[in-house]
Amino acid sequence: MRIIDHPILEFNKGRPVRFTFEGRELVGHEGEPIAAALHAAGVRVLRVSPRLHRPRGFFCAIGNCSSCLMVVDGTPNVRVCAEPLHEGMRVERQEGHGEIR
Ligand code: FES
Repeated sequence: MRIIDHPILEFNKGRPVRFTFEGRELVGHEGEPIAAALHAAGVRVLRVSPRLHRPRGFFCAIGNCSSCLMVVDGTPNVRVCAEPLHEGMRVERQEGHGEIR
């Protein structure tokens, strides 16, 4: 989900940074939304719904729903579509409401 080229807008890509998704090392661009880096790496399921245990991915992509809640550096309920990526982040899929560790 990265726009590489646009006729009107200009996108400044941050430097490449490493982060982990469920222990797997991935590379994204510093400052882009975590969800964008995951999507670019082929990750489509971001969480599992609390009641019916259904897989959830992007929905609004602007931080207004709860479809992309994930555990980031041990903190649950982070909206990864609106959270910038930084070097060394640990990102995990969230099951249900998430637990504080
Ligand atoms: S996709 Fe809606 S808050 Fe992230």
